[in-house]
Amino acid sequence: MIQLHKVSVQFGTFTALHPTSLAFVPGQFTVLLGASGAGKSTLLRSLNLLAQPSAGHITVDGIGKLDSARRVHEHRKRTGMIFQQHQLIGRQSVLANVLLGRIGYHPAWRTLFPLPRHERRTALECLARIGLLHKALERVDCLSGGQQQRVGIARALAQQPRLILADEPVASLDPASARQVLEQLHRFCREDGITTVVSLHQVDLAREYADRIIGLSNGRIVFDSTSDALTPDKASALYEHPATAADSIHATPAEPSMFSSQFATAKESP
Ligand SMILES: Nc1ncnc2c1ncn2[C@@H]1O[C@H](COP(=O)(O)OP(=O)(O)OP(=O)(O)O)[C@@H](O)[C@H]1O
Ligand SMILES: [Mg+2]
Repeated sequence: MIQLHKVSVQFGTFTALHPTSLAFVPGQFTVLLGASGAGKSTLLRSLNLLAQPSAGHITVDGIGKLDSARRVHEHRKRTGMIFQQHQLIGRQSVLANVLLGRIGYHPAWRTLFPLPRHERRTALECLARIGLLHKALERVDCLSGGQQQRVGIARALAQQPRLILADEPVASLDPASARQVLEQLHRFCREDGITTVVSLHQVDLAREYADRIIGLSNGRIVFDSTSDALTPDKASALYEHPATAADSIHATPAEPSMFSSQFATAKESP
């Protein structure tokens, strides 16, 4: 669905993501794991060019190479972003926030006026799917953290996305709410065939929900396989000192070859 071709990201002289080639297939639920500073957010944000690649390029099925403002707009319109801190407008209603997901489908001038009735219906349907229809007219800042994050999911769903990018969506939530949020994300990924990429710090949740886990260390991919293949040793190696993590993980036998063909993944050698 989306492919990175030798994409790297620099901040000044610092390389946050070393040249990386990856492919994400439709409907796959991928979790990014790794210690703080490993490059999870950078990789995630490069997928909709919020982090600009310094080299390499990205292609998206049905759009092509993301090398023009028009193609980037087309891609972002169908890409839902979910953030740790929700990025909702607290003093506005839940419904108004979900409607923001529809704005990309209208010219800028159109957004000065209330969106058409069918758009409100779409937003209400998304709220019904996440179980918060009864909160539609409440102010967002009156909702719990878990409910706010689910409004963030409804806003992303309202975009009718092909891709959802969620950067630590459950980091500020209690365990029960975290599970509920991941459960819902996972369900919509399955039901709608949405390619979903989520960064997490909880290895147990990653194992439970991910079809595929990508482990990062020091701006490089050091693990890329199914959640079953992430043994406790490999998982703890991801959180070792960045200089040693890559060695510990590569020291283990190679993953089954079916994996690379299943996910059509090509990794750069570190
Ligand atoms: N805008 C920026 N300017 C300069 N350096 C940055 C910028 N964004 C990220 N970095 C650096 O790039 C590296 C990777 O950062 P990134 O945010 O991708 O890590 P992360 O794996 O998401 O960490 P965390 O788990 O703490 O969110 C870090 O060393 C970080 O300091
Ligand atoms: Mg991050």
